[in-house]
Amino acid sequence: MRVKLTMTSPYLKQLQWGIMERLRVVGGAKLVGTVRVSGAKNSALKLMAATLLAPGQSKITNLPAIADVEYMAELLTRLGCQVDVKRDSNEVLIDVPQKLGHRADYDMVRKMRASINVLGPLIARELVAEVALPGGDAIGSRGLDFHINGLTEMGAEVSSEHGFIIAKAPAGLKGAKITLEFPSVGATENIMTAATLATGTTVIDNAAREPDVVDLGEFLISMGAKISGLGSHTITIEGVSKLTPTTHATLADRIVSGTWAFAAAMTQGDITIENGRPDHLELPLDKLVEAGAVVTTTKNGFRVKMDKRPIAVDVATLPYPGFPTDLQPMVITLNAIAEGTSIVTENVFEGRFMFVNELLRLGAKIQVDGHHAAITGIKQLSAAPVAATDIRAGAGLVLAALVSDGVTIIEDAFHIDRGYPDFPAQLQSLGADVSRT
Ligand code: UD1
Repeated sequence: MRVKLTMTSPYLKQLQWGIMERLRVVGGAKLVGTVRVSGAKNSALKLMAATLLAPGQSKITNLPAIADVEYMAELLTRLGCQVDVKRDSNEVLIDVPQKLGHRADYDMVRKMRASINVLGPLIARELVAEVALPGGDAIGSRGLDFHINGLTEMGAEVSSEHGFIIAKAPAGLKGAKITLEFPSVGATENIMTAATLATGTTVIDNAAREPDVVDLGEFLISMGAKISGLGSHTITIEGVSKLTPTTHATLADRIVSGTWAFAAAMTQGDITIENGRPDHLELPLDKLVEAGAVVTTTKNGFRVKMDKRPIAVDVATLPYPGFPTDLQPMVITLNAIAEGTSIVTENVFEGRFMFVNELLRLGAKIQVDGHHAAITGIKQLSAAPVAATDIRAGAGLVLAALVSDGVTIIEDAFHIDRGYPDFPAQLQSLGADVSRT
C-alpha cells in the first residue's frame, strides 16, 4: 500500500478512528511465547528529521507502525519534502528539496515532541529555523535551554517570540566547544545535526550516550558527516560542505524490548524477544536477574523467564547506560507485587511519578517523597479503572493490570499506541486476555 500523506489522508483518518480509547485487560495470565520488536520510536523520528540535511531521496527501513511516524511525515511534507510511507514494508522514502521551508508549527510540535529535532537540520540547511515551543509535558517540564545555548555558541542568534524558538545564523554556523549541563538526548541530537554542516569542528562534552544518539550519528556518517566519539561522553563533529541521501535501518526499540522483559518477569512467564538487543539493556536485565528472573541471549535477541514471585529491587534512573527513565513505570509496577520493600529514584523527569496515583487505585502500597518512591510489595493488585498519562505510564499500567485480580479498564489508552505498535495483539499472542473497547 502506498500512502500520500496529508493530515486528511485516509490512512491517518483510519489511524485516528482506530486509535484505541480504552483497553480492557483481564488479570492473571502468564505471558509465554515470542514477540518481535520493531524499530525504536525515539530513533525513527530523529532519523526522519535528519533526512532534511541532504537534498535528494533518503530511505529509512524498520519503522515502527505508530502514528508519530505519520505526524513526522506530515511535518516533513509541510517543510517541502515528498514523503511516501510504505506501510506494508514499514519503510519511508523522503525526497528532500534543495530549498526547504523553515517553520514547524505548534499543532505539529504539540502532537509530537520529536518535532523539535528539525531545529538542528533546518538551521544548518536554511540558516534560519522557527520551531514552536512544545510547552508543558505530562512527564515534567522539559526545557530547551541546552539546545538554545549550544546553537548560540555556534554563532546562531536565538530568540523566543510568540511561542516560537527563532534561530538565525545568516553568516552560517561555526564549530564550537559545547559542554552540556546534563547529557540531554534531544540537545545532543540537535547540536550534532546542526554541526554536520557548520564550518570547523564542534565538540560536545557531556554528550548523551543513548543508543538512539549513536543510531542517528551513524545515519549522519552514512550521509557523509564526519563524526567521532559516538556512544562516549565526547562527540566530535567536523563540518562538511554537503551531505548526500542515504538508506538506513532503524535500531530495534530497547524500551519496548525492556517492557516485554518486565512483563515476563512480573507474570512469571517466559518471553523470547526477537530482535531485542540485550547489550542496550544491561542494567534493566541485571535488575531482573536480581529480582529472580533467568535471562539468556538467543540467536536474534534474548529470553526472560521467571517461575516465582519477584524479589523487590532498588533502582535509580539515570542517562544511558544507567537505568532508563522510560522503564521506570515498569520497575515500580514489578516492585508493587514483589517480595520486600524497595526505593525507586527518578533522576531524569520529575513528573514521572504521576502514574503512581493510578497504581494506588490498584491497591499498590507506594509512598512518594520528592523524587523517591518507597514501595512495599503486595501479592496481587486489585483491578480498577485507571488512566494512562503518557506512553510509558500506559504500558506500565497494562503490566499492572496483568497482575491484578479481575478486569482493569485503562482509559486514554491512545498514549500506548504511540509507542507500542499493535500492543494488544502482541499481548494476546502471548496468552493475555486484552481487548480494545
Ligand atoms: C528523550 C526521549 C524520551 C526519553 C528521554 C530520556 C524523545 C522525543 N524523547 O527525551 O522518551 O525519556 O530522552 O532518555 O526522544 N533538559 C533541560 N534542558 C534542555 C534539555 C533537557 O533542562 O535543553 C532536561 C529535561 O527537562 C530532562 C532531562 O534534561 O529533565 C533529560 O532530557 P532529554 O534527555 O533532553 O530528554 P528528551 O530528549 O526530552
